Amino acid sequence: MIFDTGLKIDDLNSGPFKKITIEKEEIVIGKKNDRIFAFNNICPHKGASLSKGSLNGDNIVCYMHGYEYNIFTGKLEKMKSWKKDSTWVEQNDQWRYSGNLKTYKVHIDRDKILIELGP
Ligand code: FES
Repeated sequence: MIFDTGLKIDDLNSGPFKKITIEKEEIVIGKKNDRIFAFNNICPHKGASLSKGSLNGDNIVCYMHGYEYNIFTGKLEKMKSWKKDSTWVEQNDQWRYSGNLKTYKVHIDRDKILIELGP
């Protein structure tokens, strides 16, 4: 189903991205190199708010543990290692596991940004 985000393309010129809520889903929308991206705000690792993170190239970097996901494809690109000094024990594989980030298909209707939710 396609929803109007209430945003226009020019709204994305200020700041790296905006966070909106549609149908109880928190969605981060932004523009990079004239391409619009939209992804779910919930980090697939442990649920942190990705809108508190920052961009590193085409990746969003989660502020919580530093995992990086591609903002266009959702692919998990980097998993930070948690080994620190000699006192730190590497977290186990189950803790480290993360799926990919959920992304959304974006449509443009004149200058309005629409988003596709659901199957
Ligand atoms: S909650 Fe996002 S990297 Fe862990």
